Amino acid sequence: MEAMRKASWSAFLILCLALLATSCKVSYGQATSVTNRRNYETDTIYELMVDRFYDGDPSNNNPYNQANSYDSTGTNINDYFGGDWQGVINKMQYLQDMGITAIWITCPYDNLRQPYFQTSNSTYYNGYHGYWARDYFVPDAHWGSWAVFDNMVTSAHQHGIKVIIDFVTNHSNQNDSSEQGGFYNNGTLMGTSANDTQGYFHHYGTRADTQTTRWDYQYRDLANLADYSHENGAIIGYFQNAIKVWLDHNIDGIRSDAVLHQDPAFLKIWQDYINAYKPVYDFGEFWISTPDSKYGDYKTFQARTGIGILDFELSNVMTGTFGTFSNTMNDLANTLGYTSSDYTYVNKAVPFLDSHDKERIASLQPNRGIEHAALAFLLTSRGTPVIYYGTEQYLLGVNGDGGRVPMPGYDNVRTGQNIGWGETTTAFQLIKKLAWLRKSNDAIAYGTTTVRWVNNDVIICERQFFNNVVLVAINRSANTAYSISGLFTNLPAGTYADYLNGLLGGFSITVASGGSVSAFNLGATQVAVWQVTNVSSTQPEIGAVGPTMGRAGDTVTIDGEGFGTTAGTVNFSSTAVTIQSWSPTQIKVTVPSITPAALNVTVVANGNTSNAYRYDVLTGPQVMEIFHVNAQTVSGQNVYVVGSVHELDNWDAVNVYYSMFNPSYPAWFLPVSVPASTAIQYKYIKRDGSGNVIWQADPNLTLTTPASGEADTTTYVWP
Ligand code: NOJ
Ligand code: NOJ
Ligand code: CA
Repeated sequence: MEAMRKASWSAFLILCLALLATSCKVSYGQATSVTNRRNYETDTIYELMVDRFYDGDPSNNNPYNQANSYDSTGTNINDYFGGDWQGVINKMQYLQDMGITAIWITCPYDNLRQPYFQTSNSTYYNGYHGYWARDYFVPDAHWGSWAVFDNMVTSAHQHGIKVIIDFVTNHSNQNDSSEQGGFYNNGTLMGTSANDTQGYFHHYGTRADTQTTRWDYQYRDLANLADYSHENGAIIGYFQNAIKVWLDHNIDGIRSDAVLHQDPAFLKIWQDYINAYKPVYDFGEFWISTPDSKYGDYKTFQARTGIGILDFELSNVMTGTFGTFSNTMNDLANTLGYTSSDYTYVNKAVPFLDSHDKERIASLQPNRGIEHAALAFLLTSRGTPVIYYGTEQYLLGVNGDGGRVPMPGYDNVRTGQNIGWGETTTAFQLIKKLAWLRKSNDAIAYGTTTVRWVNNDVIICERQFFNNVVLVAINRSANTAYSISGLFTNLPAGTYADYLNGLLGGFSITVASGGSVSAFNLGATQVAVWQVTNVSSTQPEIGAVGPTMGRAGDTVTIDGEGFGTTAGTVNFSSTAVTIQSWSPTQIKVTVPSITPAALNVTVVANGNTSNAYRYDVLTGPQVMEIFHVNAQTVSGQNVYVVGSVHELDNWDAVNVYYSMFNPSYPAWFLPVSVPASTAIQYKYIKRDGSGNVIWQADPNLTLTTPASGEADTTTYVWP
């Protein structure tokens, strides 16, 4: 009896292994595991609006019985359509089949419960998108209960999928909504913007297009949405406690809304809290156009706050190159070049072709071949790509809210129909193949990008991470074939089959020793992918480090290759740090107590030292100090504050970045993220556009920072 049980059990195991080998293949590194919440380089994200995706529970479609709120026909784009977390659970297998390894879902918490009536056009709007918060501590009843949320996260993890929540710390809801900007803490009203006795909100009115200083962006309202005062310690604490609730419900990531409109000091404090508590990747919506005078702030945002960036710069040029044809492949190549040197962590950026705020790619570009070319570019690009829901089914949708259409076959539950969830479209197959390539070839996740060949229609990009190489050839032209000669690659000599198996018309190539590729013809809208993986076993190679900023005691995850099975050493600058775990592809370490600075992380294994990866060690837990000075300046001068800690740039008057705000000149102020309970010395400086610096006279000013929340300095009057 016992023997038989054993025999059938091992037969079962063998069957499971066989199934694994054929259906999902076995990934080779821990880096690609769903438990890797900090590094997303091997992931492919799917952005889905919960309300528009799938209705798994019709009982929650109009939980507050509101008129002008729910449209069962899925027609009025301003209404709820009924989708929910149960619907996401029901479609989890579909997402896994597509190769998706992370979903970015609509804000999960309680939004306005009544429709918002906009008087200017007498129209009702609903918070189906989740951007009109009411209570960050409770789930929105349209999506489901805590139990359903937890089931969704569990189900996602079982399918190898991480859960990223959208999250808005910038604003609550409209000043004139049914809540009057009001927000709650688990049912208890905190305050409203209409009667703001606690100073929870800014009250500067909606920013006009002509108001473009940093202060205008950060302190004025975004489209009449009540703008939180992040200079209020209670608000800082509220958002730390609010995100803790969702971290405790096992989310894997955060998409931070409207970071352009928030004080980077607040965002850094918030991220530092997350990094110390339960570190998950957080990428911010720092919205820019191309070109944009805000590009400087955008490209340095991650290094300054620890929060990543949705890659607007690359996305804008992708839209122009594949969508409107207002850009060429040469422009795209140019953008790849300068962003790789401008971004501090280019492989952590999050590029996309379209989103809930943009025209859908299938509408922008009716030619399917060109659309596939665009998808192939995105999915092999540096950074973690986002696929907007329905792209795999060629959903159409015009700019703005028009792209927030229901998935086809959406009303499956009510009608029993099952249309539109097919898994055979070319786009679906393409996403699946390239999502797998991202997990299986580290050149895509961690590699450099080199443009090997380009003209206005063709781009041939090489991605390389040490001995892993991927070469991607894309022709966007609908009717012109190009003959490609003089192409070189770092692929070793040999013949390479198209990794896409001809899905987009690809073919094999031959590489001679020295890297010369035999000439070939790249037909209209053809795409081919050639690759080699050669995972190092003895030379440590760092692909990703996350978080990229933190303080002593934080856990940091290092992903890559060649770490070996025996623990070696990890150095932060020249200090060897405590190792928590070690595997050939992933190491976890503890940030040491060392001199705070942006420094290099290296791994030493098998006697070999890895490449370096930048990490920023903070002085301690972060709180806010708001500096105040009255100072007269001449045209071209700005006032800055520097001081004796890393967070105050260690007296570096040349590189200190954010100038102080002066909406009430000659009064200047600036919130700064500083270490808690720390005695510091500081000074104000005046600096002009040419870098000339005038220091405030001695002595240095002194203060001790607060233990939590926020404090204001007295106002120094610069004589
Ligand atoms: C940007 C979001 O993506 C957009 O859809 C939203 O309306 C605004 N932020 C306000 O939250
Ligand atoms: C750095 C010094 O340490 C500080 O005390 C002084 O105020 C500034 N430099 C300006 O001279
Ligand atoms: Ca529902």
